[in-house]
Amino acid sequence: MLKTVVQLAVLLGCTVFVNSLATAQDGPGCLDCHAIDDEPHISEVFQGAHANLNGGGAAVCTSCHGASEAHDRRGRKNPPDISFGPKWLSDPALQNASCLACHDKTAGKMLWLGSAHEQENIVCADCHSSHERRDPALDPQLSNDQCLACHIQQKAQIRLPSRHPIAEGKTACVDCHNPHGTTTEADLHQVTLNDNCYSCHEEKRGPLLWEHEPVTEDCSTCHRPHGSVNDRLLTVRGPALCQQCHSAAFHPSVPYGAQGLPGGNSNRNLLGKNCLNCHSQVHGSNHPSGARLTR
Ligand code: HEC
Ligand code: HEC
Ligand code: HEC
Ligand code: HEC
Ligand code: HEC
Ligand code: HEC
Ligand code: HEC
Ligand code: HEC
Ligand code: HEC
Ligand code: HEC
Repeated sequence: MLKTVVQLAVLLGCTVFVNSLATAQDGPGCLDCHAIDDEPHISEVFQGAHANLNGGGAAVCTSCHGASEAHDRRGRKNPPDISFGPKWLSDPALQNASCLACHDKTAGKMLWLGSAHEQENIVCADCHSSHERRDPALDPQLSNDQCLACHIQQKAQIRLPSRHPIAEGKTACVDCHNPHGTTTEADLHQVTLNDNCYSCHEEKRGPLLWEHEPVTEDCSTCHRPHGSVNDRLLTVRGPALCQQCHSAAFHPSVPYGAQGLPGGNSNRNLLGKNCLNCHSQVHGSNHPSGARLTR
């Protein structure tokens, strides 16, 4: 019963109960100096997922910042064992080891070591704020903002005329990427880039009677993942897109005129769609006579 009351008090951030809990313990008295009333931001840790680590109270603090005995005795004279800043910033590997002590087995985290972010000395605390009631990284919108603070190129790409609706809040960076690392290129959740696309564009998966080789091979041959100046996220505007692989000489991108010369039809919609006007099934066809991707 007493334990329940204490836990409840901790959850509610009740000063008296938490302070007495801290002093009642043998361990360090972090909360003597970092008092809940004086540092309300710091004590928000008692309202989040980590509220009861190691039984609660000051033991919560030491589970991430280390026992910090020297600091505990002298306060500002000595640093805590592990600090995430702002004053005594610990080595990135040490900071991350603190979190990984508990989170190395959590789904996805086992791939952290060796990941692009780990290699670049990014720390868990660049994205995670343990002293906020609700970790902002767990909110897709807020986490997009975090990613974009470092990824300037993508920040520009998601504003291009054709784009995945990331800025619009319909898709998030973490829908496609695992920031903790994966075994795949570009930290994609899926094994291949095409599998990533199929996870939302299922209709493109097939199997199709008539496949178009580059489509089954790699969607990114023709599409950019984040944004493009060309319609439909295309890498290149047509007919140049198609003519990267199909000889321009062999047949023109526009209909023939009465004289058998190109450009006979002046319908601008027809011209605008170029190759696609006839080869509309560019992703493949299930029509019995769709071998040329025309239907
Ligand atoms: C004797 C008072 C005192 C005690 C006890 C104390 N601290 Fe501190 N702590 C301070 C002061 C003062 C600062 C601010 C130092 C500064 O900014 O000059 C500080 C700063 C910190 C920081 C910020 C470090 C940084 O790099 O900015 C952390 C983390 C911290 N303490 C954790 C703890 C933990 C964990 C405990 C318990 C093990 C603890 N403190 C016990 C006085 C104390
Ligand atoms: C889950 C891990 C974790 C726990 C538990 C934890 N901290 Fe922290 N602490 C951090 C991280 C990470 C930061 C870096 C700033 C941030 O993420 O909000 C930090 C920052 C701090 C700072 C510096 C804040 C600033 O902005 O000046 C102090 C002081 C501090 N912690 C003290 C404590 C005390 C006291 C406790 C116990 C009540 C505690 N921490 C519990 C992870 C933790
Ligand atoms: C002493 C063990 C321990 C340490 C150290 C620790 N955590 Fe946790 N963490 C937990 C537990 C327990 C939970 C809640 C259960 C769960 O979701 O796995 C949790 C949950 C979380 C969550 C999910 C939060 C939510 O609201 O659902 C995040 C994110 C997280 N921790 C990040 C961190 C980061 C970043 C650090 C280092 C600064 C850290 N943890 C250090 C034990 C720990
Ligand atoms: C580049 C930003 C970033 C970094 C760095 C990062 N995380 Fe995360 N983390 C996120 C985001 C975004 C989420 C929520 C979406 C998700 O689960 O992928 C998350 C979710 C989590 C969760 C809760 C969900 C789960 O999978 O259980 C834990 C725990 C966690 N991270 C721990 C860590 C630890 C430990 C580190 C450092 C080794 C770390 N993270 C580094 C962005 C990051
Ligand atoms: C503190 C800065 C920082 C933050 C925040 C950050 N990144 Fe990164 N990220 C980097 C750096 C540095 C690299 C390595 C250089 C590069 O590829 O740009 C990188 C690399 C990557 C890569 C390429 C991985 C590879 O294998 O090539 C992806 C994907 C990525 N980050 C996604 C994300 C996502 C998603 C988020 C938000 C959840 C995020 N990043 C947040 C700094 C950051
Ligand atoms: C619809 C899925 C999707 C979304 C959403 C997405 N990405 Fe990507 N991202 C990819 C794919 C696919 C690649 C690999 C591109 C390639 O190899 O051609 C990639 C590559 C990257 C890279 C590696 C560098 C590069 O351009 O090759 C970074 C960094 C990156 N993305 C960051 C982000 C950030 C930040 C966000 C959120 C603003 C984000 N991505 C949203 C699919 C996505
Ligand atoms: C997380 C889900 C998701 C993933 C994964 C995804 N997409 Fe999308 N895609 C969307 C959404 C949502 C739209 C917008 C649809 C709309 O507005 O009707 C979209 C639109 C598109 C468009 C049309 C853009 C335009 O300007 O009309 C193209 C092309 C596209 N995606 C290609 C891809 C490719 C290639 C991949 C793999 C690299 C991919 N998508 C992965 C969700 C996803
Ligand atoms: C050979 C080039 C090429 C490849 C490879 C390719 N696409 Fe496309 N895709 C196009 C063209 C061209 C358009 C525009 C069609 C139009 O305007 O009628 C398009 C349009 C789209 C659209 C938006 C319109 C629609 O059909 O829904 C989506 C989504 C899309 N592609 C997804 C994918 C996916 C997923 C892959 C990989 C499986 C892929 N594409 C591979 C050329 C390609
Ligand atoms: C990355 C190279 C590449 C690009 C870009 C590309 N294709 Fe293809 N295309 C191929 C390959 C490879 C084949 C299979 C050729 C074969 O089987 O002889 C093919 C087959 C075709 C076929 C069927 C021809 C046949 O003989 O079966 C048509 C039609 C076609 N492509 C039209 C297009 C159009 C239209 C575009 C532009 C939207 C385009 N292709 C872009 C590589 C490409
Ligand atoms: C006016 C309609 C039309 C336009 C525009 C058009 N095609 Fe075709 N294309 C066809 C027809 C019809 C065939 C089938 C011819 C046959 O089977 O003998 C064909 C056949 C093909 C083939 C298969 C060639 C082969 O060996 O049989 C390819 C590849 C191809 N087109 C690519 C393109 C490309 C690339 C463009 C744009 C530069 C384009 N086409 C524009 C109507 C068109």
